[in-house]
Amino acid sequence: MTELAKLKTEAVAANTRSINSLFADEHRADNYAVLSSGLYLDYSKQNVNKQELETLFSLAKNSQLTEKIQAMFNGQRINNTEDRAVLHTALRATEAEKINLLGEQSAEVLETEKTMSAIVDGVCSGKLLTLSKKRYTDVIAIGIGGSYYGIKVSLSALQPFHCTGLNVHVIANVDGAALQEKLATIHSETTLVVVISKTFTTQETLLNAQAIKSWMISHVADKTSQTKIIAKQWYAVSTNIIKATAFGINENNILPMWDWVGGRFSLWSAVGLPLALAIGNENFAQLKAGARAMDEHFRTTDFNQNMPVLMALIGIWNRNALGHSSLAILPYDHALRALPGYLQQTDMESNGKSVSNNGEKLPWLTAPVVFGQEGTNGQHAFMQLMHQSDDIIPSDFILALNGSSKYFDHQKVLVANCFAQSEALMQGKTLEQASHELKSLGMSEQKIRQLAPHKVMKGNTPSNTLVMDALTPFTLGATLALYEHKIFVQGVIWQVNSFDQWGVELGKVLGGKVLAAMDGSHSSGSSSSGLDSSSSNNSALNSGALSSSTLNLVKKFKSKSIK
Ligand code: F6P
Repeated sequence: MTELAKLKTEAVAANTRSINSLFADEHRADNYAVLSSGLYLDYSKQNVNKQELETLFSLAKNSQLTEKIQAMFNGQRINNTEDRAVLHTALRATEAEKINLLGEQSAEVLETEKTMSAIVDGVCSGKLLTLSKKRYTDVIAIGIGGSYYGIKVSLSALQPFHCTGLNVHVIANVDGAALQEKLATIHSETTLVVVISKTFTTQETLLNAQAIKSWMISHVADKTSQTKIIAKQWYAVSTNIIKATAFGINENNILPMWDWVGGRFSLWSAVGLPLALAIGNENFAQLKAGARAMDEHFRTTDFNQNMPVLMALIGIWNRNALGHSSLAILPYDHALRALPGYLQQTDMESNGKSVSNNGEKLPWLTAPVVFGQEGTNGQHAFMQLMHQSDDIIPSDFILALNGSSKYFDHQKVLVANCFAQSEALMQGKTLEQASHELKSLGMSEQKIRQLAPHKVMKGNTPSNTLVMDALTPFTLGATLALYEHKIFVQGVIWQVNSFDQWGVELGKVLGGKVLAAMDGSHSSGSSSSGLDSSSSNNSALNSGALSSSTLNLVKKFKSKSIK
């Protein structure tokens, strides 16, 4: 049995132990905490002791974690199923390191950085004007998945740092309602558009781009200006220059991406252009500096003081030793409201896998189900289940000590709630405590017997608390890099390739087939493979054929009626 598979047997004591009891060590709060890159991680409320941590460090060591960290930073092709290096960290490295790491390609990377910051300066200074020679008022970024989440989380997190006067919008989903709502708020004449698509083939992005193009040219009377406005006001970030230019984007307005930067790790590249257009070049540089500080910490610090390694190993402990299947991300900061969604993608798209890098079925479970919401809203929703169901859901509480609003009393209450929740999740309430409480209220014995069980809270729910002085571009960069590296470490331990995402492919293929069925290119009642739906369902080799259920639903869509 491997060390990871054996973890469950190491957790016998932890399974029956209360986290509270671990605080018999009066130095626990100080000793189970680590500080780096403007972030303070308190992991003392986790159900883990020194000896168990040593086991986890040894697991990391025997998984060649040190060597694998170096392999990633050095640009080895660790994304083995796509034969690619994983070098998003190079994008936040110094110029000399870039040259050293990327060789000839560093010139293009450095050039792209210059172009990006020149666009930001040009738009902000008014040197770059619209076709009608006006100042830009709005920016709309079109992209989805990794070409969206990083921008989305950073735009809302850094709202107080928006300093350029531009209103930056993002559109991802292929839902006309979202698009219509967005376009109603902006002026085509003064809008700059950035299409972000590594492949420039993503259905949602292309459909949105096409619709926005039609909307923009519909506001321009003469034909020549229609072509000109797209060439002038549209930018793309893509590896696919041919498709981007065929779409009508001026070749000089296309910023490159590289195959060694995965979509969900691409914020640090030109994908960050819409963000930089909101927060300016200096703040964008600070974001990268924060991420770089975390990179350095991760690359050079011993496991027992290494924040991403500790977070990752504790996550492994919770998942594989204690058997907890979820992870709640609970930012007590409105600015971080998009973080749970961002981490759902980075974590679950990276590690939601069940075969090893070598294609062997893994004998252990991998990524937890990640979900969450900003506090205190979550307290009045799913946290009931966290307190009183039998499922134990580990959490990451995240907060800035100094809020960004002028409402200081709100900040005090918000922070108090955050600290109280981690305490309540850990302490819980026994039947005895609940009964005692009710008794002190003067309740009758009979009533107490009835009511007390409903007031019991299981407690013993582990959590991390991640604290920063204030949410700034630097601390946001450090936070995003912290989670990137945590996810990487977990991928190493689970032996999965965290950098591919083949799982999203089948849905894309079937999406095409459903569309074809809607357009009538497949007669309804027969599958796209030409087999009837029941035969197609029975054919194990016929993966990708549409079921009778889906074909029935397509029929209803075509008739626009459920009858
Ligand atoms: O969700 C799948 C995915 O392939 C992501 O990895 C990627 O970030 C996203 O779709 C968008 O892809 P693209 O940037 O090529 O449009």
